[in-house]
Amino acid sequence: MKQSFTDFAVCGGVPEFTAPLVVGRPNELPRESFLAKIEAVLDSGHLTNGGPMVAEFERQIAEWLDVKHVVAVCNGTAALQIMIMACNLSGEVIIPSMTFIATAHALQWIGLTPVFADIDPETHTLQPDSVERCITQRTSAILGVHLWGNPCDVDELSLLAHQHDLKLLFDASHGFGCSYGMRPIGSLGDAEAFSFHATKVMHSVEGGAVVTNNDTIAERCRLMRNFGITGLTQIESLGINAKMSELSAAAGLTSLETVPQLIRHNANNLALYQLHLQHINGLTVCLPSEKHSSNGNYVVIRVDENRFGLSRDEIVLILRTEGVFARAYFSPGCHNAPPYAGNPIHTPVKLQTTEGLLTTIMQLPTGGTVNELEIKRISELLTSIKQQAPHLRQIIQAPNANRHPLDNSAGSKTLVHEPHSTDQLVTRHLAHRVLSTTAQ
Ligand SMILES: Cc1ncc(COP(=O)(O)O)c(C=O)c1O
Repeated sequence: MKQSFTDFAVCGGVPEFTAPLVVGRPNELPRESFLAKIEAVLDSGHLTNGGPMVAEFERQIAEWLDVKHVVAVCNGTAALQIMIMACNLSGEVIIPSMTFIATAHALQWIGLTPVFADIDPETHTLQPDSVERCITQRTSAILGVHLWGNPCDVDELSLLAHQHDLKLLFDASHGFGCSYGMRPIGSLGDAEAFSFHATKVMHSVEGGAVVTNNDTIAERCRLMRNFGITGLTQIESLGINAKMSELSAAAGLTSLETVPQLIRHNANNLALYQLHLQHINGLTVCLPSEKHSSNGNYVVIRVDENRFGLSRDEIVLILRTEGVFARAYFSPGCHNAPPYAGNPIHTPVKLQTTEGLLTTIMQLPTGGTVNELEIKRISELLTSIKQQAPHLRQIIQAPNANRHPLDNSAGSKTLVHEPHSTDQLVTRHLAHRVLSTTAQ
C-alpha cells in the first residue's frame, strides 16, 4: 500500500510494478503442443491454401460453437468484410459506436455507410429502440457487437431485422466461449465474424472466421477468401486473399486446448476484482449478466468521477505510471474518429449512453498471465489512489511543472516544463511503453 502521495510514481516514487501488466497480453500457447503442430506443418510441406491444420481448426471451432459452417480467415477485419460481402449488403448498416474501429472501417472500406446507434447502459451492446430509430430505406443490415463477450439482445434485434427485412449479423470478436442463454455466440443471426487476434481469449496469433448455419453465405465466404477461385483456376466471383495459414491454424488449435481453463481463470480473476474493489466508492465492476455465460476476457470498470475524486483518464494515467497498463477502450468512440466524426450521416440519433460510457469506463489486466496476487496489488493501488486523490489530481493537473515519470532523457528527476492535458500525458506514456508491449 502506498501511504503517502509522494510514494506514487507520478510524484517520483517507485512504480508498483516494474514488469508492466498490460490489458490484452496474449494468453500463452503451451509450447510442447504448439511445437509438435509446427513440426507437423513443416513435415507436411503444406503451409497454406487450405491445408489439413486449417481444416481441423474449422472442424473443432464448428464443434465448439455448435454451428454448421466455419470459414477460417487471416484476421477478424477480413472476416467482417467477407461476411458483409457474402450477404450482398448495400447502403447503410447499423452498428454501435462503442466498438473497436475495425467494425466501422470494415464497412466503410468496402463502400457501405456505418450508422451508429446507441447502446444499453448495462450490456454496452446495441439498444434495440435506438437501432429502430436509425432504420431508413437505405438500411440493409444490423451488425451488433457482443462487446466484452456480452451477447447483444438477439431476440429483440432478430424481431427488428425480421420486421424490416434486414440481415442480422454480429461482430463476435470478443465472444469466443460466451453464450446467449444456452446458445453459443457464433450460432446467432445470419452470420457472425470472429477475431482470433493475439489479444483474444482464443487466438491464432492473427486470424478470424465467419461462422454461419447458412449454406449460401458459407459457400460465398469460402470462395471470396480465395480470390473467388474454385478448383485450380476457375474464377466464380469477386474475391480477395483472406486465407488463414497452416501455422496460424496450428496456433489456434493449441490455443483452443487452453480455453476451458482460461475461462475458469478469468472468472476467478473477475470475482477477485469484484471482491477487492466493491468497497471503493466511485468504482463499479461491470459484471456479465447471469443469464448468459462469459469468457471473462475483459474486466470493465466504471468510474464515477465525483465519488472517486479523479476522472477515468486521470486514474488510467496514474495506473500506467505504476506499471498497470489499463485501457480506455473504445475511447473516443468510432463516431468521434475520422472519417466518421462531423458527418451527420453516421449519427442520426443521440448517442447519450455511448458518450457517457466513453469517458467513464476502463479495462484492467486479466487473462491467463495475471494472477491473484497481482489483482490484489492492483486493487490496493486503486484504494491508495482514491485515498490520495486530491493530491494526485493537483500533481497531474499542474500546468507547467509536472515530473513526467517516463521522461528519462535527463535522468529520473526530469521536470517536464510544458502545458499538457491528461490525454497528452497518457498518449506520451503510450508512446514510451505501451505500444511496444501490447497490440490493440
Ligand atoms: C470488436 C472488434 N471487432 C473487430 C476486430 C478486428 O479484428 P482483427 O484485429 O483480428 O482484424 C477487433 C479486434 O481487436 C475487435 O475487438
